[in-house]
Amino acid sequence: MVAAQTQTTHKNFKGIEKTVFGRGSFSQLDEILAPRRGDNEGYFVFIVDNYFKGKPLEERVPVHAEDLTYYISVEEHEPTTEQIDQLRDEILAKKGLPSGVVGIGGGSIMDIAKALSLMLTNEGSSTLYQGLNLIKKPGVYHVGVPTISGTGAEVSMTAVLTGPVKKLGLKCEWTVFNQVVLDPELIASVPRNWWFYTGMDTYIHCVESENGRMNNAYSHAYAEQAMKLCREVYLGEQSGQTPENDDKLMVASLMGGLSLTYSEVGVCHALSYGLSKILGTRHCYANCLIMNHLEDYYPEGVAEFKQMVAYHQIDLPQGLANEWDDETITKMAHVSYNLPHMWLHAIGDNWQEVITIDVLKDLFRRL
Ligand SMILES: [Fe+2]
Repeated sequence: MVAAQTQTTHKNFKGIEKTVFGRGSFSQLDEILAPRRGDNEGYFVFIVDNYFKGKPLEERVPVHAEDLTYYISVEEHEPTTEQIDQLRDEILAKKGLPSGVVGIGGGSIMDIAKALSLMLTNEGSSTLYQGLNLIKKPGVYHVGVPTISGTGAEVSMTAVLTGPVKKLGLKCEWTVFNQVVLDPELIASVPRNWWFYTGMDTYIHCVESENGRMNNAYSHAYAEQAMKLCREVYLGEQSGQTPENDDKLMVASLMGGLSLTYSEVGVCHALSYGLSKILGTRHCYANCLIMNHLEDYYPEGVAEFKQMVAYHQIDLPQGLANEWDDETITKMAHVSYNLPHMWLHAIGDNWQEVITIDVLKDLFRRL
């Protein structure tokens, strides 16, 4: 008798085309962009985190006279569909199609650069393209220069946007950066709390990638290495914000991102999306608030996460849910529930028997 074949579709994933890694590699950016400067209308758009306005890095951004630079604050909220549409319309009206887009900043700036690259060539609102493979045409050349490590946005196939209805990525092969510049010197000035929260995003990516049915030898190898690096950075005598650890964290972020690309995130991210969508809480911070209460799902990962929190004396507030009414919690639960790919991975085919709106509301009430 022939054994029944399992119907499986393996992800055919596209990686970053070119990567430069090393201290001081940011100085090579101008040279890297040079061969592209003749494309389209012959100018680059730089999207830089407003945090660097007036800081030494501002002087080092290789802007030419014809280029456009936008300093964007990502403190108030995560990138929105409206924001991307406006930026796209403004850029096209000013100078036409650019040679490329360069994002210099954290995960949100990476997402803005990726989404903008796609929306410069795809008509209509970005809300039309939130989901998998909805984008019709390749975007313009785009480069990511992370200045904070952990989200894995530098390597992911998705540009996460919050829209009027959903928080969901523009996800397709063309989202992936053509080039990334990984210069660990750039993450040295990250404020301590954010260094912790964003690093924990990587750690959580690994815990979730490993604990679910999509995990496999490929995702496991990356998760294992990224977790080892996270332990070196966040636990033990050598932990802390040192140059050696910045090198490690930058690689951990990349590998954690590769692990989840070939597996999937799980319970923490599903809940985190609900919290961010309804209250605008920043992704990495939201993850930390939630991971603190997920011992039922990830006992070992949560125990180690708590060790790291304690070691660095990070203050994660409790009792937040006391301020939320039932309507708010219900809305969060619905956003989280509508991420079946995460639940299928984390819980399995019968996830709807295990995860109900009430179960999710109960989890949010623990916060
Ligand atoms: Fe994440």
